[in-house]
Amino acid sequence: SKENNADRFRPGFHFSPPSNWANDPNGLVYLEGSYHLFYQYHPYSNKWGPMHWGHATSEDLVHWVHAPVALFPDEHGAIFSGCCVVDWNNSSGLFKDSHGLVAIFTHADTHLETRQPRQRQSLAYSSDKGQTWHKYDGNPVLAEDGLIDFRDPKVFWHPQSERWVMVIVAGDHARFYQSANLREWSLTGEFGKGEGSHDGVWECPDLFELPIDDTGRSKWVLIISIGDNPDCPEGSRTQYFIGDFDGTKFMNDNPSDHILWLDYGRDNYAGVTWSDIPEQDGRRVIIGWMSNWKYANETPTGSWRGAMTLPRALSLTINDGSIVLTQKPVREVEQLRKDSMKWKEITVTPVSPFRQIMNEDLLEIEAKIDIRSGEEVHISLKSSGQSEIVIGYDPVQQWLFIDRSKSGVMDFHPSFAIRHGARMAAVNDKIKLQVWLDRNAVEVYANNGLVALTDQIFPDAPMQRIEVSTQSGQVVLDSLQIHTLESVHIP
Ligand code: FRU
Repeated sequence: SKENNADRFRPGFHFSPPSNWANDPNGLVYLEGSYHLFYQYHPYSNKWGPMHWGHATSEDLVHWVHAPVALFPDEHGAIFSGCCVVDWNNSSGLFKDSHGLVAIFTHADTHLETRQPRQRQSLAYSSDKGQTWHKYDGNPVLAEDGLIDFRDPKVFWHPQSERWVMVIVAGDHARFYQSANLREWSLTGEFGKGEGSHDGVWECPDLFELPIDDTGRSKWVLIISIGDNPDCPEGSRTQYFIGDFDGTKFMNDNPSDHILWLDYGRDNYAGVTWSDIPEQDGRRVIIGWMSNWKYANETPTGSWRGAMTLPRALSLTINDGSIVLTQKPVREVEQLRKDSMKWKEITVTPVSPFRQIMNEDLLEIEAKIDIRSGEEVHISLKSSGQSEIVIGYDPVQQWLFIDRSKSGVMDFHPSFAIRHGARMAAVNDKIKLQVWLDRNAVEVYANNGLVALTDQIFPDAPMQRIEVSTQSGQVVLDSLQIHTLESVHIP
């Protein structure tokens, strides 16, 4: 049937909703052995609609178990994006002498008199580790008249000031609020007018401190997703700022026109990080929605729509003298590996490419490529039909790219069939690529996660053929590894 046929895009190891529409990850929190993933969910349709919070849990960020819908729309409106924290000391007073989970989210409705969209911030809480939720009866807890776009709160405990801090966006800037009890909030600072990209409305902020390599120093990272804009071919995407945060305001280290992108693919949006991962673990883990508002409602997946990226651990490193984020899939993803094959010192040319036909279409590929010859190298993933996706590197332009212009079903939106990429220098004449291939997407990480590219694909048949070749001339692959991966999707 048409439905079954469309389900060939159901991912094997990326999180996807049981059925119907999903967008942003929400409420990411770790508590007593469980990672919680809530997400923007429309349980009655495969298109965006009145928002609920879907819910899933995992012990390892890889195997997910679906849970009942956690938050439903109510008299204050639909439930837009937000976060969860563990209120360890019952500072909110919502728990009986104990701790619990507090969700801080945007209530979205329409103002009765002005008929303008209205977005206000509210709380829900759970005393049973996220199984059942109660809306706080003093909702909403934060409203600002005159701000039409005012949403996506992200809250964390700031030990130095002994206060909760909220970062939230308001159209063209981020705002910082403080609270002692999660219920009463006061504005402490604003950031962003004239800073970075304003190609679209600012959405889904996050703010956290990270160590810089092993320098003993650290910096704050402010993540800002920017919405789609019809004049902007890239659609929705995510930028970040590096700077300092003193508990009240953020100061950008870079000039205001310096833009840092989290991902150079087209399908990584609204990414935010897990709260309350224990200090001994120390990781900062982000997950994004693997789609783009440009075409999110039109992708050809049938009964469900919208998946998440792999969860990724974030670090700061110094590259070319400036501090930047690097990312790599969390180590738990290695459990997915089934069979591994390894080659060394392979010379490829257009007439003698490397070719491998797999019996599987869930793959991880690692390649270390010597680019001294200056030739453009291509890793092609192909189906038994006509579909192909190319991951390429052009040493002359120092350009890493994905070409999905022959990747299968593409006619749902004119901006889908593209080749796009990022500037990236080789290191000692070598580049390192890590590629994760799923049935609906490809994720590419280069040079230890300095550059990431995440793209949806909808191939006409399973992608089981790997080919490594050049445009002309020869290139040496120092090493090449292919792992087949397990599917963790529960049908
Ligand atoms: C980002 C976003 C958020 C909003 C949510 C609504 O993708 O537009 O700003 O809260 O989606 O579903």
